[in-house]
Amino acid sequence: MTNEELLAISEKEQELQQQVRYRIMVCSSTGCLSSRSDEILAALEAEVKQRGLENEVLVKKVGCLGLCAAGPIVSIQPDGILYKEMTPEDVPAILDRLGGEPLEEKRIDTHQPFFTRQKKNALENAGVVDPERIEDYIATGGYAALIKVLTEFSPSEVIQEVQKSGLRGRGGAGYPTGLKWSTVAKAEGEQKFVVCNADEGDPGAFMDRSILESDPHRVLEGMIIAAYAVGANQGYVYVRAEYPLAVKRFRTAIRQAEKMGFLGQNICGTPFSFKVDVRLGAGAFVCGEETALLQSVEGNRGMPRLRPPYPAQSGLFGKPTLVNNVETYANIPAILRNGGEWFAQTGTEKSKGTKVFALTGKVKNTGLIEVPMGITLREIVYDIGGGVPDGRKFKAVQTGGPSGGCIPEELLDTPVDYESLKALGSMMGSGGMIVIDDRSDMIDVARYFMEFSMEESCGKCVPCRVGTVQLYNLLGKFQRREATEEDLKTLEELCDLVRSASLCGLGQAAPNPILSTLKYFREEYLAKIRKSTPVEEA
Ligand SMILES: Cc1cc2nc3c(=O)[nH]c(=O)nc-3n(C[C@H](O)[C@H](O)[C@H](O)COP(=O)(O)O)c2cc1C
Ligand code: SF4
Repeated sequence: MTNEELLAISEKEQELQQQVRYRIMVCSSTGCLSSRSDEILAALEAEVKQRGLENEVLVKKVGCLGLCAAGPIVSIQPDGILYKEMTPEDVPAILDRLGGEPLEEKRIDTHQPFFTRQKKNALENAGVVDPERIEDYIATGGYAALIKVLTEFSPSEVIQEVQKSGLRGRGGAGYPTGLKWSTVAKAEGEQKFVVCNADEGDPGAFMDRSILESDPHRVLEGMIIAAYAVGANQGYVYVRAEYPLAVKRFRTAIRQAEKMGFLGQNICGTPFSFKVDVRLGAGAFVCGEETALLQSVEGNRGMPRLRPPYPAQSGLFGKPTLVNNVETYANIPAILRNGGEWFAQTGTEKSKGTKVFALTGKVKNTGLIEVPMGITLREIVYDIGGGVPDGRKFKAVQTGGPSGGCIPEELLDTPVDYESLKALGSMMGSGGMIVIDDRSDMIDVARYFMEFSMEESCGKCVPCRVGTVQLYNLLGKFQRREATEEDLKTLEELCDLVRSASLCGLGQAAPNPILSTLKYFREEYLAKIRKSTPVEEA
């Protein structure tokens, strides 16, 4: 495939789409599908056919349009109309109103901050392209970055561009992507691997699933570019088996890319060859940890091992391996298309670009958002999220999943970037963001995450295996109002021990939800202790 051939496909596809007067796009991601969006799609197709409108109206399925709380969502283009809570019964009314007055009672206001305050890169094509048609992806500029890289850039120039962008890993720790790529590129070895971490086990998180469901080719293109940059000839996508739609669409993307020569031997007529396979995870949170993930891909039980050596030096089958997150790869094509400096214009000094969050919990606009780094938590919760529903009061926002912490109201003006969240005792994590209202007991919240860590601990090291159970039980004592001052001391000491003595990130971060609630909601722990005092003594 040459650049000219790619352009020809893109132009032909754009022409096809412009021939029709209207494009009706139906969200076909897991969220909307669970509320029958497939039936809406089928009803639209049938009704368009029945009315003989096939040459005027194109009906297509697309990925996530973001505002999951209002699903199933249907978008009408070029009019820029979004409809919420659609049913198959609404279909005739939508078609009746095409080009006329929209159906106001179903219309979503697209001028609200939920839409205007976002900035999309990784989600650029979500809700726009049909995830199962490579031509659709190509029409939006897809695979142009790959061809540009293969024909104009040396591998080290690709890495320089990624370094210039300042992109940091979106899987949690925020390690500089360009630096990781250059380490793998420099590592000695004939055989190298590129792995996409799509294990996504954090409670409340669905960013990676949604990206894979909405725009699998973008992730694939990012992986192929990475493989060229580091010198890998085999890639694996490690995705949890609970994500069947993401798996299906990614497999389709691989087949289509192979057919067009973007994968396989001598890609686009160059000496570069690369293959990608899918590996399914069984849904163990610890298998998201990179060394455990690699064990799992090798067919072993997924248990972390000590680092160093890091996977960049000795990873899959002992070979140099690049492990990056889904969203990290999804950022790559645009960086190579537009240049690293373009990407670095967004964000803060140390955290460049945008970040995708799954905004859930007690917030009006639950859904998937992508925002520039540096935006404040308050802007996310109140402007984009629309605040807390049912007249309740905001209490905290939990970021970073089980490895993160709870941030209180008085710190809501903190900018969202890797360092600021860490300084508060939480972390960016992979992008789960759960809003908590005044009805929640923070000890319950901490215990919920501790139960998760306890159950997901692989048991390899004692501090984590035993410590998480003890922490969980201690929190239970507080919940039952049986805890004493001594228990509070033990709780703090044990958190410290589990954090410092555990082998991998799961154990090291497991105490974070307790530590952050102790820091910001200590009064709730003390109140439970005070109530443990017998009434006559009080
Ligand atoms: C317990 C645990 C679970 C993790 N789960 C994930 C995950 O689901 N997805 C992910 O990308 N990274 C996860 N990570 C981080 C990975 O180990 C690794 O840092 C990441 O995939 C690197 O990609 P990045 O540099 O693009 O962020 C997890 C780490 C730990 C300690
Ligand atoms: S810290 Fe926990 S999850 Fe990690 S290796 Fe130890 S026991 Fe396993």
